[in-house]
Order: sequence, then C-alpha cells, then structure tokens
Amino acid sequence: MKYIRNSKNSKSDYNLIFIYEDRLSSTYKIIEKGILQDDFKSGIAQKLVTGKAGSSNIFSSNSYKNNYFFIGLGEKNKLNIQVFEKCLCGALKTIKGYNISSISIDLTNINIKNYDHIKGSVIEIEKAQYNFREPKKFTLKQCLLKVSNTITNRELNNLVAESVAISNGLNTARRLGDTPSNICHPTFLAKEAKKLEKINKYLKVEILDEKKMQSLKMGSLLSVSQGSKQPAKLVIIKYMPIKKKQPIVLVGKGITFDTGGISLKPSPNMDEMKYDMSGAGSVIGTMQACAEMNLKNNVIGILACAENMPSSTATRPGDVVTSMSGITIEILNTDAEGRLVLCDALTFSKKYKPKCILDMATLTGACLVGLGKYPSGLFSNDNDLSNKIKKSADRTGDRVWQLPLYDDYFEELKTNFADIQNIGGRYGGAITAAAFLANFTKDEKWAHLDIAGTAWENGNDKGSTGRPVKLLTDFVSSNK
Ligand code: BES
Ligand code: MN
Ligand code: ZN
Repeated sequence: MKYIRNSKNSKSDYNLIFIYEDRLSSTYKIIEKGILQDDFKSGIAQKLVTGKAGSSNIFSSNSYKNNYFFIGLGEKNKLNIQVFEKCLCGALKTIKGYNISSISIDLTNINIKNYDHIKGSVIEIEKAQYNFREPKKFTLKQCLLKVSNTITNRELNNLVAESVAISNGLNTARRLGDTPSNICHPTFLAKEAKKLEKINKYLKVEILDEKKMQSLKMGSLLSVSQGSKQPAKLVIIKYMPIKKKQPIVLVGKGITFDTGGISLKPSPNMDEMKYDMSGAGSVIGTMQACAEMNLKNNVIGILACAENMPSSTATRPGDVVTSMSGITIEILNTDAEGRLVLCDALTFSKKYKPKCILDMATLTGACLVGLGKYPSGLFSNDNDLSNKIKKSADRTGDRVWQLPLYDDYFEELKTNFADIQNIGGRYGGAITAAAFLANFTKDEKWAHLDIAGTAWENGNDKGSTGRPVKLLTDFVSSNK
C-alpha cells in the first residue's frame, strides 16, 4: 500500500470523510460545492445522514466529481481513538467489497492528541488487508492522507512507517492465532519466532528444548507438555539495540491447543482453544513491530509454548510438581495450565534483570465472564507500572481494566499438600489466577494482562484480533 499526502489535484475512487452527529453542517466546508452539498443537506433533512457512531452514507452519483463515503463518529467531544478506529474499521469492511484501488481519507476535522488518529487510520487500513485464507485479496493500492498543515512531511512519513510496522506485527499475531493447532504447535511457534532474526541485526532468538528445561528444573512447565507428543519449547527473543540498558520483558502464554488435559474441557467451541497461544503470538507480533521500526529500547520476549493434552502420560489432578523457583504446586485442575507454564517462564525471566515484566495470557474464562470482550484484565503489583499501561491503553484504544490483588485471594491458593495449589475457590477466577502468578514475581515490577476475552472475535468476524500488540508496542516505545 502506498500512502501519499493529499494534494489538490489528486483523485481517488472513494473519498472518506468523517462526520459528527452534532456538527453535521460543518461538513459542508470539506465537501465539493454544488449538487453534492444539496444532496447532503437533504440527506440530513430526511434523517438519512445522522453522523451517529457506526453509521455511514455513500454518495456516488455520476453528477459528482468524486465518490464519497461519509463515516459517522457520533458526538465530537466524545470521540476517542477507540471509537474512531471502530468506526473506520466498519467502513473499510464495506469498502473491501468494492474492489477499488484507491481511497482518500480526510483527517482534517479529527482532533486527537499527537496525531494518534493518523496512526490509527493507517493501522486500520493495514488491518483491513488481512485475510487468513486469501492474503492477496485486498485490491486497494493507494491511500491519500489529507492531514493538517501543522504536520511536516517528515513527521507524516515517520508516523506512516511506524504504523505500518505496528500493523505488520499485529497481523502476524492474528495469523498465528488463526493457524490451526495441527500446524501451529510449539515447534512451529519457535520457528516463526526464529524468522524475526531477518528483520534486524539486534534481534536474536534462542530456543530451549525439554532437556534444557529439565536441567533448569522447570517442573511446572514440563508437567503441562508431558501428556503431548509435541515437545514444549521456551523461546527467548532478544531485541537489544542499546548497550547497558535494562530490558522490558514480555512473557506470553503459548498453549498451542488447550483440551484441558485430564480435566477435559466440554466439546462445544473447543476449536477456539487454538488461540490459547495468543499471548505468545502478541509477543512475537510486538517484537516484530519493535524491530521493524528500529525502536531505541531493549525488549526481551519469552514464549512459554506447550500443548495441553490428556493421555496416559498426562499430569493427573492431585499431582504435585516443583517449579523452577522451588515453590511446589499441587495441580488440582489440569485445565488451569496457563499459570503452570507462565510461572516457570516468569522465574526464568528474572535472569535478565528486567526493568519490568509484563505477561500476556488467555488465562481464564472468568475474565471473559467478568469483563466481557472489550477490555483486557489488568493486574499488577506496582501502581506506577499499571498507570503506564493504562496510558498506553488510552493512547491506542487497546483497552484494559484493572482488577484487585488483595491478600484474601492468595489465601485461596493454600493447600495441605504443597506450597500452593493451582486453582482458587468458585469465585473471582481471573484474580486467583493472577494471584498464583504474583507468587513468582514478588521481587519484580510485574503486570499481567488476561486477554481471554480480547484476543479472539466471535460471529461473522470470527478469528484472532491481534490484541494487545498495539498496547504493547506503545508501552515499549513510550517507556525508554
Ligand atoms: N485457556 C483457558 C482459558 C480460556 C477460556 C481462554 C475461554 C479463552 C476462552 C484456560 O487454560 C482455562 O482453561 N482456564 C480455566 C481455569 C479453571 C480450571 C480454574 C477456566 O477459565 O475455566
Ligand atoms: Mn485450560
Ligand atoms: Zn489455557
């Protein structure tokens, strides 16, 4: 896709213009005079043109000089980046069906801090090009960006390049989440990570096999893969362009399929458990984005990859294992496997003396029940860190909502048979899962994102969302 700054005489198959429900008349200024303005006016009078968020109107009569696609954004002062991207995404879905080769997008009446709407536009356009089965289906070749004069050409070019890097990473995460588990197993994920080395000389990938993990005493992680023919992999992706600077560590849950193990899951919708590696996918995507934009910050991604299967070699409920930290764990439910692979990856990550550790995991159904599909669940042992993550969420529209980690939740993990057990009581499952992880990160600034609800979309758009790649790349680039 080519992005070009709009000039007066350039022409596109469709012009995208944003309208507000409380500023309908001010749109006249940015549309062509004459018949179009008259038709637009009568559209408003007939309440066909409303400007409501999610609405759109197409004006494509032969008597206009151009075709127009008006995108409603709702009330002007309620606009934020999340609403903006959602509305644009809806419009692009329609446009995808037109098989056209060029659009222009008028951003002169959008006012979001730091040109985040320019970034958001490019990201949505790149996102719209993703198609798991037919990668080349999108016909759009050129996008004219109409932006304010206050932005220089150089700034604009940088913004576009950065946004393309972010969307490439995001689309990688989506592709990995969509790839079925007979292809996307731990070894495949490790190979995909290895491919990133081509992008940037500062990016290096190391892959630890089960033997190496045994020698590191990762008894908890290995208890998950022991029921599967697919061997577990621990993948370390280092992007360290700066000398002597503590890295940010990103840890991802990479369960390439989660049957529940001996605590077998019910059959309906079990296919969706192929996306149980989305935490790892989002880490790969973020590392790709950072390397593609030559980011000046040190980041290490760690993927805890395993397949959770029932078999005669699988872990039984009641088994006790020793984690790398030395903490012993009674596994009461083999379906609570994410925390079992993550705890050893978190312990391992300490050797890099991280500035902070963020882990991403499709960890609990309870998070979906509690928060729905819109925000990721946020948990942290450090207020400064969680505030920074919330800021990145606000800037990118990749939303989070924080839940508490009171001491009471930790009480629920006590058992007579080991230091801790791997499940809590009946209620607050997303929090007891996070509390389990917190036992392994006591000395670190740590945050956990439960992305069970946000990494996957159901219905017509069923598939991986690539979240929270936008949030993570913003976090890494704004905390240098
Ligand atoms: N991968 C699941 C969580 C999940 C559920 C993700 C639905 C996405 C959609 C996780 O491994 C799991 O099975 N968690 C259990 C924990 C329980 C056994 C304490 C759950 O949430 O039911
Ligand atoms: Mn599970
Ligand atoms: Zn799982």
